[in-house]
Amino acid sequence: MGSVNVALLGFGTVGSGVYELIEREQKRLSESLSGSINIVAVLVKDDSIKRNVPNDVLVTSNIDDILAQPVDVVVDAIVGVEPAFTYLCKAIDQGCHIITANKEMFAYKGFELKEKAKEHRVAVHYEATVAGGVPVIRTISQLISVNKVVHVEAILNGTSNYILSEMRNKQIDLNTALQGAQQLGYAEADPTNDIEGFDAFYKAVILAELVTEERVNFNRVFRHGITALKQEDVVNQSLKGHRAKHIVTLTIEQGEVNVTVEPRWVTTEHPLYDVEGVNNGVLITSQYNGQLKLEGPGAGKLPTASVVVEDLVHIFRHEPKIVVN
Ligand code: HSE
Repeated sequence: MGSVNVALLGFGTVGSGVYELIEREQKRLSESLSGSINIVAVLVKDDSIKRNVPNDVLVTSNIDDILAQPVDVVVDAIVGVEPAFTYLCKAIDQGCHIITANKEMFAYKGFELKEKAKEHRVAVHYEATVAGGVPVIRTISQLISVNKVVHVEAILNGTSNYILSEMRNKQIDLNTALQGAQQLGYAEADPTNDIEGFDAFYKAVILAELVTEERVNFNRVFRHGITALKQEDVVNQSLKGHRAKHIVTLTIEQGEVNVTVEPRWVTTEHPLYDVEGVNNGVLITSQYNGQLKLEGPGAGKLPTASVVVEDLVHIFRHEPKIVVN
């Protein structure tokens, strides 16, 4: 019987989702892991607000108090590069494993964080940074152990896909559809990130760095969001069998990656045509394995929390030094 102590950084949609899911599935997790996952501390912005957690869980706005606890794994569910990056560096220096759902931070600092983690012999997992509940990081990581990935085409922003589906199906405008996405908890705190393509851009960079194992030159990434699309075009084109989709494309040639993030019109034959609503879809073409298609919920509290907990289970199973036998 072993156990793993977890600190949660952030208690918003993803952080509270991770907390809830671990509570809800504790019995099943304990049985399958022969051990328990204990959340020992939660970092919040304002610690004067009472959170719905037991009294023995430390709730604080001070990272040093969090890291003074006996923590094995730090889960980052904060938004933005800082202070998340600094906090995670401190955690790695202390020998903690890292799981992050923080796309912006990982797009800018993931390469550095992975290097630092290697030096300190700790794990960094980041499945939740790309495509919500769709296991794209795990799939590509597996593929590249044997194959070269040569092409990726993907819908990676659930909010944009939801908005485009709603604009077409309900004939409503972008802002009304965006409000629906916000109410459902899909959109970013600042939804400009969704509709102007920044969120998909971060995810594209993370995938490109995974596939090539090289840093991406951000200046060479072509990025456009969905705001220039007119509602009447979205509706009229659909009558001709064309759907507007916000698509990330990675083309890898001789180790060099070309990345574009833009709205495109796709026809019924295109494998992403039927990826609708908040779903994300990912087409991965590799040397020996042809084209794979993954599809599933690209945003939302529990799908995202689910892949974070899967990352935790992976650490529990594969990092024996943290398991006290
Ligand atoms: N706002 C993001 C999206 C959340 O809509 O895809 C998941 O990364």
